[in-house]
Amino acid sequence: MTLSDIASLQSQALAEISAAKDAAEIENLRIKYIGRNGSLPALMKNLRDVPPAEKPAFGQALNALRNAVTEALNSRKSSLEASSAPAETFDFSLPGNWHASGSIHPVSAIIDEVTRIFAQLGFTVADGPDIETEFNNFDALNTAKHHPSRDARDTFWLGNGLLLRTQTSPVQIRTMLAHKPPVRIINPGRCYRRDTTDATHSANFHQIEGLYVDTVPVSLADLKSTLEHFAREMMGPGVKVRFRPHFFPFTEPSVEADFSCHVCHGKGCSVCKGSGWIEILGAGMVDTRVYKHVGYDKDCYGYAFGMGVERLAMIKYGISDLRLLYANDLRYLREFI
Ligand code: PHE
Repeated sequence: MTLSDIASLQSQALAEISAAKDAAEIENLRIKYIGRNGSLPALMKNLRDVPPAEKPAFGQALNALRNAVTEALNSRKSSLEASSAPAETFDFSLPGNWHASGSIHPVSAIIDEVTRIFAQLGFTVADGPDIETEFNNFDALNTAKHHPSRDARDTFWLGNGLLLRTQTSPVQIRTMLAHKPPVRIINPGRCYRRDTTDATHSANFHQIEGLYVDTVPVSLADLKSTLEHFAREMMGPGVKVRFRPHFFPFTEPSVEADFSCHVCHGKGCSVCKGSGWIEILGAGMVDTRVYKHVGYDKDCYGYAFGMGVERLAMIKYGISDLRLLYANDLRYLREFI
């Protein structure tokens, strides 16, 4: 036995293994080369006759032969298995996997839209809790102690001077208590009143509050032009805005703003109940008595406004019954967005 006998045996074995065509052939080659009566054990026996000085070299060569053959057998086996595996099949006629994707709720869509419009005018979004203090919801907003809105038949009282806020206006107070003027915020949020649910009322509804207070003059004209800009962005360029005198405890003067009816464009129809106008929001110049409650200088100037989100959604999407917004019927909610 010479080293070159071992080398040629190795190359012969590797050539045969790579030509093997199936598992049976591979098994036969394993038996032929490294099986108990195969070539490798036979060569091992010859090791006895090798002169001691050459034994290590022969030993190494035989080990290398065993490793190379074993490895070649394994890799040929796995490549044959891979190529004989059935090709992956895909049945294009099967129905697809359907995943229900959500859509934006009309109330959220209105909040997003109104927020976007005012954000463009420099208003930042403020937030406040649903559970409020009597001070933030009524006292600081200059609401008389005997004002009917404080009545337990109108407000959900929680005890300890806490209540479920009846409006987003307490966020005006929170904002002014926390920040010096100028402040310019918009605040969407949930409100609660003890209303019996019907087509236009819900005990739980949403408002969007706006507040701008500065140390430089801000006038009713600024409020009007801001709201007119908002109306056009929200309802389209043709919309008209009408301001009517009104009363809110925390604004003076106070107004209510109506938009011209988007259905009949002011002619009068069932949606606007024949008037041509739809009431949208309350607003006014911040009453100086409010400034006193939040520690602002009485010479500050500012306006505030608040609007009902469900109301806007009903108008914008032509929804006739507010309860449909909360019925969680996806067939209905998907109609809009
Ligand atoms: N908070 C008032 C309401 O719920 C609306 C309003 C907000 C009026 C801001 C004036 C200024 O009726």
